[in-house]
Amino acid sequence: MTFESKIRPIYWENGVSKMLDQTIIPYEYKYVDITSGEEMFNAIRNMIVRGAPAIGIAGAEGIVLYAQEGKNKYSNIEDYKQWLIEKTDYMATSRPTAVNLMWACEEQKKIIKNSTSNIDGLIKELTEKAIEIEKDDIERCKKIGDYGAEVVPKGATILTHCNAGALATGGYGTALGVVRSAYAKDNTIQVFADETRPRQQGARLTTFELAMDGIPVTLITDGMCSYFMKKGMIDMVVVGADRIAANGDTANKIGTYTVAIAAKYHNIPFYVAAPLSTIDISIASGNEIPIEERSHDEVTHINGKRICAEGINIINPGFDVTPNELIAGIITEKGILRPDYKKSIKGLF
Ligand code: MRU
Repeated sequence: MTFESKIRPIYWENGVSKMLDQTIIPYEYKYVDITSGEEMFNAIRNMIVRGAPAIGIAGAEGIVLYAQEGKNKYSNIEDYKQWLIEKTDYMATSRPTAVNLMWACEEQKKIIKNSTSNIDGLIKELTEKAIEIEKDDIERCKKIGDYGAEVVPKGATILTHCNAGALATGGYGTALGVVRSAYAKDNTIQVFADETRPRQQGARLTTFELAMDGIPVTLITDGMCSYFMKKGMIDMVVVGADRIAANGDTANKIGTYTVAIAAKYHNIPFYVAAPLSTIDISIASGNEIPIEERSHDEVTHINGKRICAEGINIINPGFDVTPNELIAGIITEKGILRPDYKKSIKGLF
């Protein structure tokens, strides 16, 4: 049972990627046209589009943009393919942690390598694949939502961190997909959203999209979660993921690990919701997940205004890794994985 969102953060139209600019939400709701591969690389890096599945879609569309540009540069298909493969590898480096980006670029690379078409035919194949990745993501998220809704207690208050919603995916959400599907069955559930410093995806994006859909949401700051858990006001936690290792260790937005520890201490189930494209079976544990280090301005400034002394040290990792033993279940489009994750994940691949 689904509860549709009107939000489509990224879609392909007439040879151009239409992208909702997430850096200006909630002040403005505006689409920008991304017309070249380099623009797409920068849109991903600068978080005009963000969220693991959404940057996967963006990466796939970025390869189509490069493919369109290369058409005027090359007449020989083999030279063209070689150049496009280099651009695909480059696109995959626009952000390091979310593996959906590398997954989507790899999907496009397979097409480039295996295609027997001419340049126009290859562009068509890459375009079809990018659109398929977008559409499939919505379907995958609806399945994640429906599986997840089964473990949401009646009238539950669900805590989430960052934004793993329609804005972070093709348009339904992973963690917020669970919320949407649960809300379709029981409109007495509600969400507590962590603000999510430093980029405030919880405050700016999660509350925005839930309010748009009329799902009750309460904004709290990141340090407040234990307080509300102790008061018995949180029934479960559901978060998204940027990369899940073969043993279930999960990278997600910085601060997620703290929430997971607090949930364990208070005996509150902590779930991760993610499509299989977020699972990286090539790495054994979370220790191998590359963690993005972002600009120090994100910490030193709020709304363009400095909030701390000059000359101090700053560290700004964008993600942390929650150890698998803190995770009650990983909600995927194929069902809910339970510990032992090494075994349950292996069973799916
Ligand atoms: O830096 P961001 O905003 O791209 O980080 C996003 C997250 O951490 C999300 O929780 C994750 O990508 C899952 S999105 C369904």
